[in-house]
This record gives sequence, structure tokens and C-alpha cells, in this order.
Amino acid sequence: MRICVIGCGYVGLVTGACFAEIGHEVVCTDNDGQKITTLNDGGLPIYEPHLDEIVRQNVAEKRLSFSVNLAEAIRFGDAVFICVGTPPLPNGEADLSAIDNVARLIAVESRSPKLVVEKSTVPTQTGQHVKRALSIYGRKSGVEFTVASNPEFLREGTAVLDFLHPDRIVVGVDDRGSEEQLREVYRPITEQRFRCRVHNDSCPAQKPHFLVTSINSAELIKHACNSFLAVKISYANMVADMCEKLGADIDEVTQALGLDPRIGRHFLSPGLGFGGFCLPKDIQAFIRLGERAGVDVSLLKSAEAINKQRIESFCNKARQLLWVLKDKRIAVLGLAFKPNTDDIRFAPAIDLINRLLVEGAQIQAYDPEAMGKASAVLPSVRYCHDAYELTDGTDALIIATEWPEFKNLDWSSIRDRMLRPLVLDGRNLLDAAAMKALGFEYHSVGRETREGKTNEQPERTVHSREV
Ligand code: UGA
Repeated sequence: MRICVIGCGYVGLVTGACFAEIGHEVVCTDNDGQKITTLNDGGLPIYEPHLDEIVRQNVAEKRLSFSVNLAEAIRFGDAVFICVGTPPLPNGEADLSAIDNVARLIAVESRSPKLVVEKSTVPTQTGQHVKRALSIYGRKSGVEFTVASNPEFLREGTAVLDFLHPDRIVVGVDDRGSEEQLREVYRPITEQRFRCRVHNDSCPAQKPHFLVTSINSAELIKHACNSFLAVKISYANMVADMCEKLGADIDEVTQALGLDPRIGRHFLSPGLGFGGFCLPKDIQAFIRLGERAGVDVSLLKSAEAINKQRIESFCNKARQLLWVLKDKRIAVLGLAFKPNTDDIRFAPAIDLINRLLVEGAQIQAYDPEAMGKASAVLPSVRYCHDAYELTDGTDALIIATEWPEFKNLDWSSIRDRMLRPLVLDGRNLLDAAAMKALGFEYHSVGRETREGKTNEQPERTVHSREV
């Protein structure tokens, strides 16, 4: 099929590249001309594992191209996927102005029938507004439009693999033609009929579910899913606080919780809370949507409040340990909102650093990918070449993002470089007993630190060389 993707952010770029990878002809467009220039010059505006390979290969094989000419891109596609941003407004609702703009442009520029697909995360009932905009602004051309919702569940850091090997594909439609078209778009994935060049062992072997729903349900599924994940993380954080106060160990507790198949082991890692451009804004938008509909959303509000409190209580811990923060040299390991990405939007690390800076601490930081983006918003931080330079002469080290490679650092050397070997592990990345044995003052989240205690955690296995 011929597909147009509007918006070259994390979702749009991955969607466009992966559609090309499974055999479609794709033109991606964006109103940010600089982004398109970067892509046409062979660069990528974001860091995302595997994305550079599949973009390069599909551009070379002429299935994927990038254009600043929106009208041409729209006319090229039989299906137009809207992947523009829906950032939060000051009141927490999603800003739908980009969706509205794009819908009107599609209406005006189209010359042949189009399936218009919302992939951006939008509040329920947005599809109805998109339909209305297409019919009002498209009345002169007389072009026929159908609308569908196809929420995306990819995670940053594993976006390409998530897209090519999803556990489910949700399509919200209100006509058989749109359903058929979307089945056709996804057939190589649903029938696993393409040769995946980036496949690895973590890709599920089974075929994904293809769920056909109403447009309203598809839109709601996306918000319900992200909000559920947010609630689950806040729940784990609340239980971690209880563990800390009552002398229990969150690793032991979540291991047992996770073994109950009704609960599951994912998204129970406590720490600095959830960040990024999806969970925080989506739970907020879902709250506003529910409030408008007259639904009691206090459950979601509590999850959001717990999350907002995470940084403050972590700062309190730092204050208790360091006494005065002013003039203390604090090393921050990790800036991205999670590992394997350079994305710092709503990253807990950035919020944390801002608070420490306000109190007069001297901050130096290191992240394998996110320092470029961080330096634009935190110019007063000193950025270091590696974790060793980072820790030289510091009073404390905070682990703010759990990049797996941080586990394998030479922690003895880090201890010797620090003025005071104090580690505050905001992601429970390291083994508490091993860190103490190395002579660190080590503090993490909700964990008992009994000597010699080893606990097998499925997601955070500790290897013998690691601490
Ligand atoms: C999230 C969802 O997981 C995706 O399914 C969804 O498609 C995406 O939003 C989106 O709406 O586009 P993402 O924002 O990439 O994906 O990040 P997550 O992996 O969900 O992590 C979000 C935050 O929660 C991170 O800051 C992470 O560190 C934190 N987290 C995650 C925890 O604190 N504990 C956990 O157990 C898991």
C-alpha cells in the first residue's frame, strides 16, 4: 500500500520506517523542515535502537522517503496516518490543535479517497471531530474520507521491535472498508510474513491479536492502557514506601506479587516515578476526560499525586543524608526518562536536578545518549565524558536512570574517586549488599539491606561481576 505518515516524532518515524520495512511504500512528512533535512541527509533527529538501520535500508531500497511538501505527501497515500504531537495544555487536557490542523489540510489537499488514521494518542471522541473537519473542509473537492483509530503501544527504547512484533493491534473503525484496508496494512505483521532484519530473542513468537473495535473504544483503550500502567507504578511506589517504613523489602514483595498471573511482574519497579512524554500526560488527559464526563477519577488522581511526590521524597532523603545541599557536589548518573533513549521530556532526572540546583548543589551529570538534549534545558550542569570523570571528588552519586551498562561499572574505582562514597540509587539498579560490602553508604528505594541477601529478580538479575 501507499502510506503517508504525518509527523516525524518517535511514533511517526518508527511507524513510517516499520511500514516500509514490511513492504509498503511510505512518505513521511513534518512541518519541521529541519527534521526533514536531517532525515534526508541520512541523520536521525532521535536516538532509538535499530531505527537508523531500518531507515537507512528502506530509503536505499526506495520504499521510504521524507518530504517537506505536505500536499504531495498526502496525495501520495491511500492511507494517511496522523502521528502529530498532542502535548498537555496548562489545564492537563490534550492540545488537539495539531490534529485539527492536519485534518483540515488533508481535507483541502486530497484529490482521491483516503483512509485517515489517528495514531496519535487522543481523547475519546476525537475521531468524530476529525470526521467533521474532513467533511466540512473537503466539501469543495468532493473527495471521500473514512476515519479510523489505530493507537500505538510501542515503548521508547524498544520501539522498532514493539512495532514489528506487537502483542496486539487495535483498530477502531465504523465501516468494513476501513477494517479491510487496515488488515491489509498490517497483514505482513499479523501473518508474520516479512523477514525481520532486527529480530531478537525478546520478540514474541506468536502472532499478534488483531482487535477490531469502535473508534471511541480504540481511543479509550490507549488512555486506559497508559493510565493503568501509571497506576501500577504508583502502586509499587506506595508499597515501596511502606516497605521502607516497616522494615520489609520491595524486591521480595514485588517478586511474589509478580508471580501471581493476575498481577504480572512488569511495571512494578519502584523509584523516582514515571516520566516521559506519554504516561504523565496521558493520565492527566484521562483524568480531565473522565471529569468532563462526570466520572469519579480519584483513583487516577491518587496515582498522579503519588508520582509527583516521588522526587520530593527523594530530595528529602538526600537532604537527610547530606545535611546541607548548598555547595555539595552531586553526581547524577542518567538523565533520560528511561534507559535506551535520549528523550528527557518529563524525565524525573531533570526535575530532580532542578530541585537540587535551587538548593545550591553543584550538579555534574552523565548519560550515554541524553546529554545533548539535557544541556539545552540544564545549561548550568557540568556534563562528563563517563561515569568515572562524573564521580571524581563528589559528595554523593544519584542513579536516576537504570541504563544496564551502569551495573558493570568498576564500582571500587568509583568509590575511590568520590569524596564521600554515598550512593542514592533512585532506580534500585544495584545490589544493596554488594554495594555495602564495597564500602559504600548505599541507599535505594524500599529495600532492606541485609548483608549477603541475594534475591533473584526476573527483570533485574544481578550477575556475579556486577553489583
Ligand atoms: C509508554 C507505554 O509503556 C507504551 O505502551 C505506550 O505506547 C507509550 O507510553 C506511548 O503512549 O507512546 P514509554 O513512554 O516509552 O511507553 O515508557 P514506559 O516504558 O512506559 O516507561 C514510562 C516511565 O515509567 C519511565 O520513566 C520508566 O522509568 C517508569 N517506570 C516504568 C517505572 O518507574 N517503573 C516501572 O516498573 C516501569
